[in-house]
Parts: sequence; structure tokens; C-alpha cells
Amino acid sequence: MAALELVKSFLEHILTPHRHVIIIGILLVILGPVFLHVYLSRTVSYITLPSVLLVGPTGAGKTTLLTLFERRSSPSATHTSQIPSSIELAVSEDGASSYRDDLDELSATAKKFLLVDTPGHGKLRHFAMSRLGQASTLAHKLHGLVFVVDAGALADHDALASAASYLYDILLALQKRMGSGKSAKAPATIPVLIAANKLDLFTALPAALVKSQLETELGRIRLTRSKGLLDSGVGADDVDDAAENDDWLGEYGSEKFSFAQMREFDIDVEVIGGNITGDGPGVDRWWSWIGDKI
Ligand code: GTP
Ligand code: MG
Repeated sequence: MAALELVKSFLEHILTPHRHVIIIGILLVILGPVFLHVYLSRTVSYITLPSVLLVGPTGAGKTTLLTLFERRSSPSATHTSQIPSSIELAVSEDGASSYRDDLDELSATAKKFLLVDTPGHGKLRHFAMSRLGQASTLAHKLHGLVFVVDAGALADHDALASAASYLYDILLALQKRMGSGKSAKAPATIPVLIAANKLDLFTALPAALVKSQLETELGRIRLTRSKGLLDSGVGADDVDDAAENDDWLGEYGSEKFSFAQMREFDIDVEVIGGNITGDGPGVDRWWSWIGDKI
């Protein structure tokens, strides 16, 4: 009998609505979904962060630039990169903050983005090219592309030719991406910054010269590649215009190439000089270009 009483009083106890039990219950019902939402939106927003891709020939200074932004102080020595790597950075809402600002500390409202470094070695460029291919998917919202070149090496024709050939592949991929829009909605444009690096070296070409040298070389590559198509055994008549058109960078049939021709495909190309180590203009103008695009 005593046992029955015990069970009865226990049941009575847990079934009697106590005020604190009700409050906890209501809080759980209201706050549960809120916490779940905050948790999920955080993890999801992480993968949809806008990103900026660092590309360019080996030894140009991409990894050095990444470490400078990451540490906000002079970077240490780097090794040639084998795989891509990315870091999370932030720029203030108006895009005016310096890379030296710690936005967490200033508790400023900041826009976060990913900076992605890719290897520049000829055999490892597929990492960068495949990132470009995925540019339209949500997980890799690409807001800009920074092509880093060593302005100190461009006086050498081989270095110029190799840098320009990589740049040609990149710009052509961007052009095809814009041109292939079968649907009415064109893909979001990806602006390009050519960062003429190492201006601290006395051998470095100034930005304006880097620009014109690259334009000349890209024009030469364009001509060689279209000739290659004609010489490849098929008669000139068999080459259908569309196919040739496809691999031609910029305004079709134009004699000289200029970056301004990329505007026709809604692609902005800007050349800005700077340096990461040593004395010179520094990286501030590159940083504000990036901040502008985020
Ligand atoms: P890969 O990883 O092979 O694609 O090359 P990378 O573009 O990442 O080059 P990295 O950042 O490793 O830099 C190559 C060399 O250039 C390093 O020894 C840097 O110290 C040097 N370097 C980078 N920026 C500058 C600069 O502004 N001036 C000078 N003088 N040297 C620089
Ligand atoms: Mg590197």
C-alpha cells in the first residue's frame, strides 16, 4: 500500500504544473529554433563568403602577400606553393579600412571574405583554373581576381612571355564564361587586378609599362594561337568562324590587343603597382581595390 502511495505522490508531483517547469518549457520552445537558426546560418555563411583569388606566375609574391595580410606585419620567407590555401579576412563596411586594422578589436561592422592563394607553377595551375570554373556556384562566390606579376622580372622576355600566356588563359576563361551565357541572365562579372609587384627593385618596370608590355605580348599570343588553328591541317575554309572566334581574346579581328577590349565582355582590368617587401608604394592600393569589390 505504501508503495502505491509513493507512486501516486510521485506522479502527482511530476504532473502538477510548476511555474518554473512551464517557464523552462516555453523558453525551450521559443529559443530552440532561434539557436538552431543562428547555428545553421553561421556555418552556411562561412562557405558562401565572398572570395578573391590570387593567381600569377611562380615567384611573383602571392604567398608573401597572403601572409602579410594574415599577420598584418612584414611577412616571413615563403616556399613555392604546392596546393591552394585560403585565409579569412575582413574589410570595414565602407571598404576604407587598412589591412593593418584589427576589425574585431575595433568592434567595427566588417565584411568578411576569403583570400585564396593558388600555386603559380606551370604544372599546378589547374587549381586556379578549376576555381575559376566553379566561380558561379554559390560556394565560391568570386568577387575578384588578383593577378600578381614580378615587375622586376618582366624586362626579361621569357618571363614576360610566360606571365602573359598564363594571363591569356585566365582572361580567356573569364571571357568565355561571360560570353557563354545562353540564358538571359549574364553571370556576375569578375573584375581583374594586375598587381605589378616588387616595385622596390630598381630593375622593376613601372605599372604603365607593365600594362603596355603585357598588352603587346597578349596580342602576339592571340595571333600565334589563331594561326596555330589555321595551320593545324584543316583548310582555312573548314575552320568555322565560331570556333576560331572562341579562342580569340578581346575584340575579334582587331589588330592590337588592349585591356580596354575586355570591357566588351563586362570585364574590368586594372593595373596597379606596389611592393610587399622593401621600400615603395606598398600594398595599400591593392587592399583598397579588394575592399571595393567585397
Ligand atoms: P608560387 O607559390 O611558386 O606560385 O610563388 P608565389 O607567387 O607564392 O611567390 P612567393 O610569395 O613565394 O614569393 C617569391 C619571392 O618573392 C620570395 O622570396 C619573396 O620574398 C619575394 N618577394 C615578394 N614580394 C616582394 C617584393 O615586393 N619585393 C621584393 N624585392 N621581393 C618580393
Ligand atoms: Mg606561393
